[in-house]
Amino acid sequence: MTASAKQHITEEAYTSWRQRSELDKLADLPRELDEELTQLDQDFWVSGNKLKEIVSRFREELDEGLSKDGQNIPMNVAWVHNLPTGKEKGTILTLDLGGTNLRVCKVDLHGDEAQGKEKSTLDQEQYTLPEELKTGDAEGLWTFIAEKVETFVEDKGLDKEYSKEQPMPLGFTFSYPATQERIDHAVLQTWTKGFDIKGVEGNDVAQQLRDKLEERGLPIELVCVVNDTVGAMIASAYNDSKTIIGAIFGTGCNAAYMASLSDIRKLDPKDERVTATQTPNQSNSAKDQKMAINCEYGAFDNAHRVLPRTQYDSQIDAESPRPGEQTFEKLSAGLYLGEIFRLILLDLADRNLVFNDDDQDTEKLRTSYAIDTGFLSQIEDDESPSFTSTRTMFRQQLNLNPSDVEIELARRLAEVIAVRGARLCACGVAAICTKEGIKKGHVAADGSVANKHPKFKRRWAKALGRFWGGRRSGGAGGWGGGPIKITSAEDGSGVGCAIIAAMEIGRRGKGGNVS
Ligand code: BGC
Repeated sequence: MTASAKQHITEEAYTSWRQRSELDKLADLPRELDEELTQLDQDFWVSGNKLKEIVSRFREELDEGLSKDGQNIPMNVAWVHNLPTGKEKGTILTLDLGGTNLRVCKVDLHGDEAQGKEKSTLDQEQYTLPEELKTGDAEGLWTFIAEKVETFVEDKGLDKEYSKEQPMPLGFTFSYPATQERIDHAVLQTWTKGFDIKGVEGNDVAQQLRDKLEERGLPIELVCVVNDTVGAMIASAYNDSKTIIGAIFGTGCNAAYMASLSDIRKLDPKDERVTATQTPNQSNSAKDQKMAINCEYGAFDNAHRVLPRTQYDSQIDAESPRPGEQTFEKLSAGLYLGEIFRLILLDLADRNLVFNDDDQDTEKLRTSYAIDTGFLSQIEDDESPSFTSTRTMFRQQLNLNPSDVEIELARRLAEVIAVRGARLCACGVAAICTKEGIKKGHVAADGSVANKHPKFKRRWAKALGRFWGGRRSGGAGGWGGGPIKITSAEDGSGVGCAIIAAMEIGRRGKGGNVS
């Protein structure tokens, strides 16, 4: 092993396979493979200095997004004016269109009447989005959604409880970048996460949904469109007043925070949508007034100035439905980590360095996105001495029978890719906090990588700690990069979305409706 590879691994101290005892190590890699791995480790390693360079450029891009429309990181204004008080109440229907599923929920918010009980209760149904829908057209998408809403409303008897005159309020969690002129309006900027549905980009998704619901005569009124990051922040703040950021580390990656109005230079302070949000006796200066910003920082560095991209990242980008977009997301989010792993294995197989016995069939390995991030999580979670579950996964999902050497290589690769992802994920949050002068608080995180990858939070915290010189800490209080800690977000797309709808209804009741 070269000195530099050793040094990288030492920096990633508590996760290193190289630190496992010799007994744990399954096999020594032959020289050629070891050299390949050393090269990959170098290509994927994001050093402490590089982290700082990335954060510095990140801050510039966040700032550009706040100053003008149409910037690379759009910093979308979300029209959520406050964090919740925790007293919000009501019954709200919510709809969550994420990457894989559609979820319909009836959320009851109990506010401060919960008295020791859950502050919200949820009745929900989840439907898998058919694969063909993701590359179909707008008609197919909204018809599917309206059908599921109708079924839910009928099954729960909500069509009897509500009427056209007294409709049920609906909050829509739409986890894609959208320009919002108001909270109940959202023009899709671009599809992300592999979606490519025609006829939606450039259109108001709120209106498209409304039209379809109306066609079915459903007693529902769409009150708000919410990004999952904003939902995560609000749902978590409902219970935890230390919440500063809502972040998703899942199929995609992104974060939201409450920005000072005075920093959002692209918003005119005299704009009635801004002034109408202030309560009559509000004497706060623009510095103290806040507005939720959905950063959409998955688009960071689309100009390829600082991120350490490898040939595999370029290949993923070139073969994606939107080449040149979501550069940061394509290096760090769940949709792509498994694909990076697959492309590396395939490259090594094509060069006869792995799976080169006659009885190995690499056909499945040639299928795009055949490996998801859960595969990498399970490899890193597999602590059995002979790595039985990793072998079984290879057999069942890829029809491959890895040798000890190939298992060892897979374990190391899984680590190299996931470590880079976690370290990059820390950069987005570090950029927001250092830019905003946020010195402590909780980053409410959700998403499959944050929740299911066994080592993500620890690695994320360690990288983040570099910006505060803090020591990592773990346990009930959350993993921390010094005073900034990662916590598990409450259900943002259901409960968070409902709280935002309730806040909006309350605001309109006080005459704040500017729509
Ligand atoms: C979307 C964001 C979303 C994130 C996490 C990204 O691809 O553009 O709107 O918040 O994924 O779901």
